[in-house]
Amino acid sequence: MTEARQTLRQFLLQERKKNGISQDMMLLIEDIATSCRIIAHQIRNGPFLDILGATETSNVQGETQKQLDVIANDVFLSHCSNCGRVAALVSEEIDDVIWLKDAPEKGDYLVYFDPLDGSSNLNVNLSVGSIFSVVELEEDLATLSNDAVLIKGAKQVCAGYSLYGPSTSLVLSTGNGVNGFTHKIGSGEFLLTFADMKLPEETEEFAINTSRYRHWTPPIRRYVDECLDGETGVRKKPFNMRWTASMVAEVHRILTRGGVFLYPKDAANAHMGGKLRLLYEANPMGFIVEQAGGCATTGKERILDVQPTGHHQRVSVILGCKSEVELIESYHKEEST
Ligand code: AHG
Ligand code: MN
Ligand code: MN
Repeated sequence: MTEARQTLRQFLLQERKKNGISQDMMLLIEDIATSCRIIAHQIRNGPFLDILGATETSNVQGETQKQLDVIANDVFLSHCSNCGRVAALVSEEIDDVIWLKDAPEKGDYLVYFDPLDGSSNLNVNLSVGSIFSVVELEEDLATLSNDAVLIKGAKQVCAGYSLYGPSTSLVLSTGNGVNGFTHKIGSGEFLLTFADMKLPEETEEFAINTSRYRHWTPPIRRYVDECLDGETGVRKKPFNMRWTASMVAEVHRILTRGGVFLYPKDAANAHMGGKLRLLYEANPMGFIVEQAGGCATTGKERILDVQPTGHHQRVSVILGCKSEVELIESYHKEEST
């Protein structure tokens, strides 16, 4: 008889015993998991509910919101507000920081999330996901200032994502490695299916939106050109390429079989600082990738060391297998000397 798989609750109880995660953290993670199950259900029924299209509103980044962006945001907001230790929420879909406490205390949680990532994939029935990150407030707050949420990614105490693909995955880290769960349809449970996920050191697969080639900086062009040269080029091996236009799907593939993902700052997005958002896209994914043995950089600096200056700030993102990320960093270094 096969051994029963651990439920998310059993896993978290074990994490509590082994690594001392707090009871509040357990509750928060379970509420996030519930949000992801609800969102998965809405997405799968999307065509019947007529919710795959756009709304008439834009978010703070000026991007048109899909109806499911708004629905997923509401689900996250209501569930993440349950845990009494959550002081504030930062969402891609909400301009302002949402303060839940009048007098936040040191150790209270700040939760950052992208409720639906890759939402341009919705109406073509391709993978989308949700991303989340949690840090602790470093001091009591006498007044509510949005600057208090500008904390480096290195301080994350939990991060993860849910991928709404052929099955619904929940991948998370509380700083003790990375574990992947799958929602077992009909059971209401996430079960541990991918324990202690690790990235291979090396890879022959990269992911970048090559339609932006003309905007890229020289180090990015150099790296991709060399991959495309294959066996006869300096890399002396063929590279494969993938682009799913959903960072969650890309990171999940990289965690599963290796690879490197790039959404760099380029000539067309430099005025915004890049495309992907630091606090609820780059930081949580950087944390997960590092916890699985990989690296995450802007090209010049470790992503988790970037000092945030705005809660919707964008950043250059290069992450995945260590050897490739280090090579791309070295090209940036050579360029600037
Ligand atoms: P979001 O749907 O939350 O706005 O994020 C989409 C992001 C990311 O997931 C993906 O890697 C990238 O945007 C896709 O960008 P392109 O449209 O340039 O391919
Ligand atoms: Mn996103
Ligand atoms: Mn989004």
